[in-house]
Amino acid sequence: MNDVDNTSIPQGEDYARTGPGTLAGEFFRQFWLAIYQSSGLKSEWSVPVRILSENLTLYRGASGQAYLVGNRCAHRGTQLSAGIVDGEGIRCNYHGWKFSGAGQCVDQPSEPCSFADRVKIKAYPCREYLGLIFAYMGVGDPPPMPSYPHFEGDGVLFSHQLIRPINFFQNLENSIDEVHIGFLHANSPYEGNINDDVPVVTTEETEFGIAQFGHRKNGKRRDTYYHPPTTTSWAQAPTYPEEMGWRDMLGFRVPIDDTSHITHTITFAKVSSEMRASFLERRKAEWLELSKLQPAEEIADLVLAGKMRFKDIPWRGNGADMTRIQDRIALMGQGVIADRTMENLGEADIAIKLLRSIWSREMIALRDGKPAKKWLNSIPPPTTGL
Ligand code: FES
Ligand SMILES: [Fe+2]
Repeated sequence: MNDVDNTSIPQGEDYARTGPGTLAGEFFRQFWLAIYQSSGLKSEWSVPVRILSENLTLYRGASGQAYLVGNRCAHRGTQLSAGIVDGEGIRCNYHGWKFSGAGQCVDQPSEPCSFADRVKIKAYPCREYLGLIFAYMGVGDPPPMPSYPHFEGDGVLFSHQLIRPINFFQNLENSIDEVHIGFLHANSPYEGNINDDVPVVTTEETEFGIAQFGHRKNGKRRDTYYHPPTTTSWAQAPTYPEEMGWRDMLGFRVPIDDTSHITHTITFAKVSSEMRASFLERRKAEWLELSKLQPAEEIADLVLAGKMRFKDIPWRGNGADMTRIQDRIALMGQGVIADRTMENLGEADIAIKLLRSIWSREMIALRDGKPAKKWLNSIPPPTTGL
């Protein structure tokens, strides 16, 4: 690893830097990472992607298998994603070199004496699960894929992608910051009145990660589970009448680079097969309405620029969208990479402290060549105690 201090305890920006050779980057590269929405990658299409500060090419071969390889052709460096998917490989558009899904050059049509067997670009294995493409960007054999069986049953499963121009760790911390629900989202629709008061938070490290319990004075409790490196699972109020209970949610916060990240959110709505069509129609109509409104990003920018008051944000007609605007304001308000040296954490920040201590511990283990914790590859259903 480069530029790593071998004595200090990782903190502050150490959590935020995830490029190759960084401690947090090495931590990330131990896991399967959600990188793309499956339905967004059609057969025999290729797209450029940037993950953990690495520029890559994601493509889907003729068989339907997804592949992740380097972004540049090894010949003279043009962008491979602009090339042609050819069977299970991808062919550069410039002089026709072809690379397999394992990154091996397999054809050099312009070379009378091919040396393709000596040319290779990087490649990472991909798998698909719950409507997302996952990649393993580490070395050696990949670990078992994460498994979330409670998202595999009857119901409606859909994902949503959101890019924010800030470091991922702010969003990860926000996802286990139960206290902010009562302030930032006080006017968002949370069924069960979980935003009526400030919760008392308890938390514990588990075999799967972190369990956080948010106890309300009204007796309600919402749990959030954290699964390394950046997955959280929580319950969210139903939005439409077809739903038979709280939604189960999974959020994957994956660095594009140190100053931006993408969140893949999976929603599992408890809807019977008879109600499925009606649910999907209602959802489509609501998103159509939202698309006619001022973009959420613009509203957040207006508030951050002092041109709109936070309390004057117009109601969006969709609780999730309102919540996203509010979170965007809070997280972008911390800066692109939050300065954690000026914080004053209190007892209510117990989950944030635990999260950071786990990251520090695991990063030290990696740095010192000690064994990292073997986490369970699954987490329990998030809906408890409501
Ligand atoms: S640059 Fe790709 S084949 Fe020449
Ligand atoms: Fe929030």
